[in-house]
Amino acid sequence: MIVLTGFMGAGKSTIGAELASALGVAFFDSDQTIAERQGTSIGEIFSQQGEEGFRKIEAAVVRELLDDADGVLALGGGAVTTPQVRAALSGHVVVFLEVDAATARARISKSSAVRPLGDGDLTSLLEERLPVYREVATLRVRDGEISDIVKRLAAVLRDLRAVRVEVPGRPYPVVIGDGTIQHLDMFAGVLGAEKALVISHPSLGRYSAQVRAALSEHRTELLEVPEGETSKSLDVAAGLLEEMAAKSLHRNDLVVTVGGGVVSDLGGYVASIYNRGIRVLHVPTTLLGQVDAAIGGKTGVNLSRGKNLVGTFHQPQAVVCDVGVLESLPAEEFVSGLAEVIKYGLIADPAILDLLASQHDAITQRAPGVSIEIVEASVRVKAEIVAADERESGRRASLNYGHTFGHAFETVTRYSMRHGDAVSLGMMAAAHASRELGWIDDSFVDLHRRTLQDAGLPVRAEFKIDDLEPAWRLDKKYSGGVRFVLLRGPAEPQAGVLLERDLLQRVLERLAR
Ligand SMILES: NC(=O)c1ccc[n+]([C@@H]2O[C@H](COP(=O)([O-])OP(=O)(O)OC[C@H]3O[C@@H](n4cnc5c(N)ncnc54)[C@H](O)[C@@H]3O)[C@@H](O)[C@H]2O)c1
Repeated sequence: MIVLTGFMGAGKSTIGAELASALGVAFFDSDQTIAERQGTSIGEIFSQQGEEGFRKIEAAVVRELLDDADGVLALGGGAVTTPQVRAALSGHVVVFLEVDAATARARISKSSAVRPLGDGDLTSLLEERLPVYREVATLRVRDGEISDIVKRLAAVLRDLRAVRVEVPGRPYPVVIGDGTIQHLDMFAGVLGAEKALVISHPSLGRYSAQVRAALSEHRTELLEVPEGETSKSLDVAAGLLEEMAAKSLHRNDLVVTVGGGVVSDLGGYVASIYNRGIRVLHVPTTLLGQVDAAIGGKTGVNLSRGKNLVGTFHQPQAVVCDVGVLESLPAEEFVSGLAEVIKYGLIADPAILDLLASQHDAITQRAPGVSIEIVEASVRVKAEIVAADERESGRRASLNYGHTFGHAFETVTRYSMRHGDAVSLGMMAAAHASRELGWIDDSFVDLHRRTLQDAGLPVRAEFKIDDLEPAWRLDKKYSGGVRFVLLRGPAEPQAGVLLERDLLQRVLERLAR
């Protein structure tokens, strides 16, 4: 459901009806539905049952519409003040129609609709509600010509998917669509930042320029770092921090990362420590960034002895995925991202593996429709796991399937091996280890091999255990020996598994075959 919210006089009902007709979907108005159901006017319900009575009825009606109907829903101006309504909105696209108190007052005085709360001190009521509108909003639209607003909303909302990452304290949306970068102002607008610092690579100038154009209402600055894993270093981070100070970035400003996992890890890291933490919004431009790196709040840089050895947890304010930008991604980078998509299929959602098999050609051609599907399905898995375990004490560890092997493969090849290739080989190694323990059968190992190979990923490689051991000793999961994530069956990950050296040796032999 697309939900319109905002203050009285913001135009929710008018815009909602026109938007629904532009999108060819049904339109619902919560106040109208309540009045019809109760057989009386909203004003009457207020005077008979008071605001509290009305809000109870409203919460039940909104919940029912969200659960059972689909289309566009205009909410009453105060609906989001009820916690049950806010909770029910999770997972839906919520548009905050912003209007100032003076315009609202002028519109209300012209309107024949009865406003149960009157039009007393609108300015303070609006101020009181503003944080709640912002909290639930996926995107925000400033007041203007109704036809313009409808046109802009229809363009961005067609095929837009939204997943909410329910981390404690401050849930945030991940939106997935085609062409979303051009509408970034609507997503960033919810945050009300003054200045936006865009961090990107010179080679992604086309996208950082689009982002800055979309954010023209804010003062934007651009900082570019060289491409590649070497930018994830304390030196580069220090350079960025100095530049942020030179540009007088403040607590209320916003860092916007535009790039793959290197940029979101690095940008997220500096945002988390500058001024003891400022807000960050990620615009991931690689498949790996969209399905994995930009979501979940892990930030970090590398040390010479290992990857991600320095880092923080710093959840973004929002993640805006535009599958259109994947078009320019080099083939090997796209394939690298598919490794993580396959991981989600193996550890959590077998339907992803079916989608990959049945839509193979459309996926390889990066058709926007199917790209939206695979990114959304993957984001749902990651969001669900992150919500269950923000700080990686338990369930989140399953996301490391294939990664303990993979990181060691990257380290011993001095990062000449792409992350996705290393993860692919790591998942094969983990499958062999699970098979060695008798937890899975050969057919499930074959499913690993087939799916990874069909995606264009490597499934065989030679490594020596003596080379890998020093890398494993530095692994964050090292505790009385290196700990692996294995599978007890499809979608049944088991984290924290210690493996004997002999077994590891046999796994490496199988991997080389
Ligand atoms: N924080 C996390 O939870 C998490 C999870 C997984 C991976 N990571 C990290 O992510 C990094 C890998 O990320 P990655 O695979 O996105 O690599 P990357 O960021 O290095 O991007 C790969 C290359 O693609 C280019 N590129 C990016 N978008 C493009 C586009 N749309 N068109 C053309 N070229 C484009 C980049 O300039 C770069 O050269 C690793 O450092 C890894 O540790 C972090």
